[in-house]
Amino acid sequence: MNQFLANVISGPRRRASRSMYRSRVVFALIALTLTAPVVTAQTVVLSVDASKPGAKIDRKIFGQFAEHLGHGIYDGIWVGPDSRIPNTRGIRNDVVDALKVLKVPNVRWPGGCFADEYHWRNGIGPQRVVTLNPNWGGVVEPNTFGTNEFMDFLNQIGSEAYLSVNVGSGTPREAAEWLEYMTAPPSTTLAKERAANGHAAPYKVAFLGIGNESWDCGGNMTPDYYLSQLKIYSRFVRNFNPAQQDQQQMLKIAVGPGGGEPRWTEWTETMMKAYQQHTWSWDINGLSMHSYTVVKWPPSYASVGFGETEYSRILKTTLDMEGLISKHSAIMDKYDPQKKVALVVDEWGGWYAPLPGSNPGFLVQQNSLRDAVLATLNLNIFARHADRVRMANIAQMINVLQAMVITDKEKIVLTPTYYVFKMYVPFQDATFVPVAFDAGTYTHGDVSLPRVDAIAAKDANGKLWLEVTNLDPNEAVEIEANLTGISVKSVAGETLTAPKVDSVNTFEAPTGVVPKPVSARVQGSKVTLKLEPKSVTVISIEN
Ligand code: AHR
Repeated sequence: MNQFLANVISGPRRRASRSMYRSRVVFALIALTLTAPVVTAQTVVLSVDASKPGAKIDRKIFGQFAEHLGHGIYDGIWVGPDSRIPNTRGIRNDVVDALKVLKVPNVRWPGGCFADEYHWRNGIGPQRVVTLNPNWGGVVEPNTFGTNEFMDFLNQIGSEAYLSVNVGSGTPREAAEWLEYMTAPPSTTLAKERAANGHAAPYKVAFLGIGNESWDCGGNMTPDYYLSQLKIYSRFVRNFNPAQQDQQQMLKIAVGPGGGEPRWTEWTETMMKAYQQHTWSWDINGLSMHSYTVVKWPPSYASVGFGETEYSRILKTTLDMEGLISKHSAIMDKYDPQKKVALVVDEWGGWYAPLPGSNPGFLVQQNSLRDAVLATLNLNIFARHADRVRMANIAQMINVLQAMVITDKEKIVLTPTYYVFKMYVPFQDATFVPVAFDAGTYTHGDVSLPRVDAIAAKDANGKLWLEVTNLDPNEAVEIEANLTGISVKSVAGETLTAPKVDSVNTFEAPTGVVPKPVSARVQGSKVTLKLEPKSVTVISIEN
């Protein structure tokens, strides 16, 4: 019996006499027969084998990216200590509280394209140097949010630093001095300057990005030219933090590809071939990859106010991530079969047309249920490639592109993407568990997509977590998960859906797209649950 019929039958029972009730049911059944075909949800069978654990889903794939771009930093994170918006040393409390929940493993900063024009000295000490931000709207860059403020922000949200150093317009010396300023024990002049600026102890810099898109906004370099720069920066930009010498060493990430075409495969080939032959004097631990879901440049799809055609096309395009990762992983496997170098997808997400009336250089867009589905599809692809993809950073954290949080002065709203990251917290550092299924097909016009996507993982306490996405915006799906290698005691979970593919959370209505509890049935080792159309569901299976 479908849910609607069940409601029709049970609803009037409490209020009406038996005969009234009977006639209403008959009327309701006739009405239903005449007006709506009874739709039976498709069933998708998942085989989850918890006895065959795979790679660890590195929590670093849930990383974020905060660039000096539009209101990503200023207003989004930094309001200054004198603001009437509640803050701690200038950093918004509401944003910190929201981000803490996500257990953000790392934040990439200060860019993006901004990084290759950033000069760190402008952003330290009591007197900041005011510059411009030519990449993003040509606006004034006050540099009031600099190194110390970034590290304070990380400390407040409980995250780690992923610094991008300036290769495009900086020098190896400038980058080396930045790292000395941040990490040297308090004996050097630069470390004393750091102490004078309020932080005596060395900072921990967990990740170092050597340039950004050096094939484009980072300096239009050829692979060979960038490679020679990479070797110099890798050699001289040192981390002196005593706590990061033997353990927790800073990981160095080289610029990698930005697509799948021959120029990008040549780029990956060049970096990885050199890595295979690298000597003691330089090294890398990661190769970056950037891939936005755009369909075609310049981004023209609307971020709100769209229908099923745009929904299905964007999701089809986002699934290209799978082929892109496979392609570059195969090249990496050739030169690094032991998978020492991680593929770091440090810019990904949906990139749409700027919201009407916004500064086009600020990359302002809404964030809808479609983006929640898009995020799960990408996170699931990263998880399936957990042996190579060990870090990723969604673009971007606040107010820019596919953000977690949108602010406007004192107002704040959490996006559907925020809730996906929240629902995925249990997958951080969990062990991948294989799920086999026939996804079926959802078709709209000339676009065909898998109806369902799913991943599973086991956390450190042995609890099994299952994520299932129903891409179909019209039809519910019955999931029958057959579990091997685990006995089931109880199941609990949440689902994220909304009435429309472009449903959003707004300042006025912030709870349009928020997770709600979902119920599942357990029969021996079988778990069944119903997925609403266009929904993201995470359940935990207690054993
Ligand atoms: O995220 C916006 C921009 O996209 C970044 O600055 C750049 O690296 C990429 O092209």
